[in-house]
Amino acid sequence: MQHQHRLLILYATQTGNALDAAERLAREAERRSCPNKLLSLHDYDPNLLPQEEAVIFVVSTTGQGDAPDSMKVFWRFLLQRNLSNHWLKGVHYTVFGLGDSGYQKYNFVAKKLDKRLMDLGGTTILERGLGDDQHPSGYEGTLDPWMSSLWRMLNTIKPEFLPNGPDVVIQDTVLIDQPKVQITYHNIENIESHFSTASDFTSPDILRSARSMHPGNSSSDKSGHPDCFLKMVKNLPLTKPNFGKDVRHFEFEFFSDAVQYDTGDVLEILPGQDSAAVDAFIRRCNLDPDSLITASPREMDDCNGHGSRMPVKLKTFVELTMDVASASPRRYFFEARCCYELFCNS
Ligand SMILES: Cc1cc2nc3c(=O)[nH]c(=O)nc-3n(C[C@H](O)[C@H](O)[C@H](O)COP(=O)(O)O)c2cc1C
Repeated sequence: MQHQHRLLILYATQTGNALDAAERLAREAERRSCPNKLLSLHDYDPNLLPQEEAVIFVVSTTGQGDAPDSMKVFWRFLLQRNLSNHWLKGVHYTVFGLGDSGYQKYNFVAKKLDKRLMDLGGTTILERGLGDDQHPSGYEGTLDPWMSSLWRMLNTIKPEFLPNGPDVVIQDTVLIDQPKVQITYHNIENIESHFSTASDFTSPDILRSARSMHPGNSSSDKSGHPDCFLKMVKNLPLTKPNFGKDVRHFEFEFFSDAVQYDTGDVLEILPGQDSAAVDAFIRRCNLDPDSLITASPREMDDCNGHGSRMPVKLKTFVELTMDVASASPRRYFFEARCCYELFCNS
């Protein structure tokens, strides 16, 4: 059956850490030849859960003990009263939570999810792991030892998942050159004129197209938020220069279609980037800022609509989807870099 003999890794993230942790789990599963599938909870049909053999949930806590947006539908489904206490009989699961013990409701979501899955008859593979931002190594301080236990326990419970056992791993260097994102370069002559001339932020279509190509914005992480483009018309500092915090009064005008909102709704703002930093990055990578590109997840094909995406200039793509000046690299960046150094030096 389609949903069997695979380790399912489901994640829910608000700011990317849970996705990072889930991807790490998937890579480590891959290195152990363990068939696996990685999905956002938003993209998973919870009706299928009773058919799964083994599921790892990687979920963060946000707000004041709240679930990430992409988990809300799944969580509501799980809370239905008509689900019996043996609905998940035969389903092996475990939970890894990401949180911060500085918050009162520390890792609340992972704890609640773990309890609910158990109440619904699921069987734990191993005790939940709780990653803590306060740990000197962040959530990875817990994830590393937790993962080692996970492979050992999985091997005991479901040896067919790990054909070579928990400790035989394929070298990173063999798997590393499989990119997650595929970039297609388009011939400028083949593109309709209004695509090729729109090089700045004046076209909402260009903005939307570039944003939709960002890996974090693929269908896997759509949280149902309306996209809306605004023009900032006022930006006034409300605090004195050396106050320590920078509090501002912003005013925006709708730049694309207006959206409905109520008092208390939250607006997520994607700031622009320093143009000089973007230019320097593109030069450093030896890329042509005027190339027309589309970006899509490697496993997707044109049937999923990616072929119909409007190409954007490489510079626009970098400006709108990457943080070249202030992002701090995650651990995987250094792992990957290490492998390439090994390639170059061997
Ligand atoms: C606005 C905000 C609210 C948070 N609220 C909580 C909380 O209530 N409980 C908790 O344990 N951690 C809380 N955290 C910490 C996050 O869970 C932690 O940083 C986690 O690594 C984020 O993972 P994510 O990037 O996958 O969303 C909060 C973080 C932010 C930024």
